[in-house]
Amino acid sequence: EMMKEILGLRALETELEQKLGVTKVVIVPGNSDEEDWVKQEMGQACVRELKSIIIPSSVVAVMGGTTLAAVAQMMTPDPKVSQSIFVPARGGLGERVENQANTISAEFADRAGAEYRLMHVPDQLSEEAYSSLVLEPSVKEILDLIKTSRILLHGIGDATRMAARRSSEEPFMNKLKREHAVAEAFGYYFNQTGEIIHKQRTIGLQLDELDAGKHVISVAGGASKANAIAAYMKHRPSDVLITDEAAAKGLLHNE
Ligand code: F6P
Repeated sequence: EMMKEILGLRALETELEQKLGVTKVVIVPGNSDEEDWVKQEMGQACVRELKSIIIPSSVVAVMGGTTLAAVAQMMTPDPKVSQSIFVPARGGLGERVENQANTISAEFADRAGAEYRLMHVPDQLSEEAYSSLVLEPSVKEILDLIKTSRILLHGIGDATRMAARRSSEEPFMNKLKREHAVAEAFGYYFNQTGEIIHKQRTIGLQLDELDAGKHVISVAGGASKANAIAAYMKHRPSDVLITDEAAAKGLLHNE
């Protein structure tokens, strides 16, 4: 904490809270684009935040990505957390196994000594498959649990980079370009003003279900993500943003 004063990060946090309309911003030193330990620092900050707000028997929904994978690695046992249950927030979004929401939620739970539930759904669903899958009793059960989640942990990515990571087809890449997509979070793509320009069809939490009752913690850093974070927060300012110094400086120097 003293370190933050010395580095001037405390002042940046306040400035960023005002600029983004986010209740609480936590900034860790460094640039996670360049150094992996910065993701671990964001992970520690996120775990601290989670432990400070969680009440026993909470359902915690988590998303995928390398940042959230790093956060899960930082989880440690805690009596309040061990009575909670971790679930993936949404179905597969074309990530490698270690970066999938299912894997990350299991990792969180294992490290915390808590429970988890998996959701088995394929990445790309046709409309027909989607409508029949949500009626399957085992799927319905986990979907109901996910809907009751009070805490959501998720990452934010650069739109084009995320589409490429998901091996998206050229027509879709062109659409993103045409419509000036800058951010991706949660399976949704956004332009710079925070409008949704595409939504990936998958089951689980939908963006419009993030009502005031859900405590949303976004974790994203690196200079390359400044625009993406700004765009996403225009759509829906999170309760907490955990980021790094490089992203924070980029965010504050824009516009
Ligand atoms: O694909 C899941 C996801 O959470 C995306 O919604 C987000 O854009 C991305 O991962 C962030 O990934 P990373 O932390 O690896 O940048």
